[in-house]
Amino acid sequence: MEPIKIFDTTLRDGEQAPGFTMRMGEKLQLAKALASMGVDVIEAGFPAASPDDFRAVQTIADGVAGPTIAALARCHSSDIDAARDALANCKKPRIHVFLATSAIHREHKLKLAKDEILTRTRIGVARARSYCADVEFSPEDASRTERDFLGQVIDEAIRAGATTINIPDTVGYTTPQEFEDLFRWIGEHVPGAREITLSAHCHDDLGLAVANSLAAIRGGARQVECTLNGIGERAGNAALEEIVMALNVRPEEYGVTSAIDTKRLVAASRLLSRITGIPVPPNKAIVGKNAFAHEAGIHQHGMLEHASTYEIMTPESVGFDGERFVLGKHSGRHALKSRLNELGHGVADEDFDAVFAAFKELADRKREILDADLEVLVVSNASGA
Ligand code: KIV
Ligand code: ZN
Repeated sequence: MEPIKIFDTTLRDGEQAPGFTMRMGEKLQLAKALASMGVDVIEAGFPAASPDDFRAVQTIADGVAGPTIAALARCHSSDIDAARDALANCKKPRIHVFLATSAIHREHKLKLAKDEILTRTRIGVARARSYCADVEFSPEDASRTERDFLGQVIDEAIRAGATTINIPDTVGYTTPQEFEDLFRWIGEHVPGAREITLSAHCHDDLGLAVANSLAAIRGGARQVECTLNGIGERAGNAALEEIVMALNVRPEEYGVTSAIDTKRLVAASRLLSRITGIPVPPNKAIVGKNAFAHEAGIHQHGMLEHASTYEIMTPESVGFDGERFVLGKHSGRHALKSRLNELGHGVADEDFDAVFAAFKELADRKREILDADLEVLVVSNASGA
């Protein structure tokens, strides 16, 4: 199976989300966790954005071994030079240059004509390439850019020396079908596009970031940009853990494999949550507290017979060690009996109906039934307990 690069931008695009600012030591800790997990590229920050960002990129570039370390830069010489300086001691540096290309951004933000965009792309990428053998170029708002013009910009960037072309869906506007088609079109129509790495960078404004990233892979992307827990601007970026597990659980669908040690996914997600103080929603796919929890009686019964009835991956495969059988008002007799046995409260068959009835009555009043509640139920309802 073909390898796919996982480019983590938790420390750059993720940190841009309100409330997710991290201190230097925390960034370094997170970068080391990402490196141990096997991510291919860590985007450590945007050195020209602030002295703190510069130092963070420098510290990670100096102190984290394994992955390529990327620094973001606008298509400005001072930004590109700041990225070069921050990466000066890095063993595997990448300068990531971006410039918006859509009509909306050209007219309202940059006030630049198409030919000026092409010139700036050429000059910016060539400057980055004169410093670094590994250069990524992103046409910002690519998914809303006229296709022919996008093709011209990509062509210009490749000819100026870009080794990765990243296609950002900056405002989370595209759809899986459209994005897959765009990648296929780039591969087929832009000279040199098959000789470089095509990358996808998706935002989640319509809740499609992961689906769009996976569609891009089908269309030819061989790098995906993502963040832990899907944090990022507005509704966030594509969630790393979801992309990685989709590739793992459905290899036949995508035909690519990542180098991620999936057993570290939950720990990395929790580390980010601890650092930022922002909890992971309980229903978050892969890493949420409820991602492997079963309460409904029918599900618990099925799970007790065979885990594959209601689980498409094992909790161990992602390092999940939380609760799996939650007792509540939807739970059934099998789950209650099994939990009582685990706790060492063997209830005689003739007493079980009374214990089960008392359990259901309590569960209607109490959202979560704890082991201590079960002990009380057994003592008050089982004659021989
Ligand atoms: O969303 C975006 O367009 C970006 C680029 C800078 C890659 O984050
Ligand atoms: Zn982004």
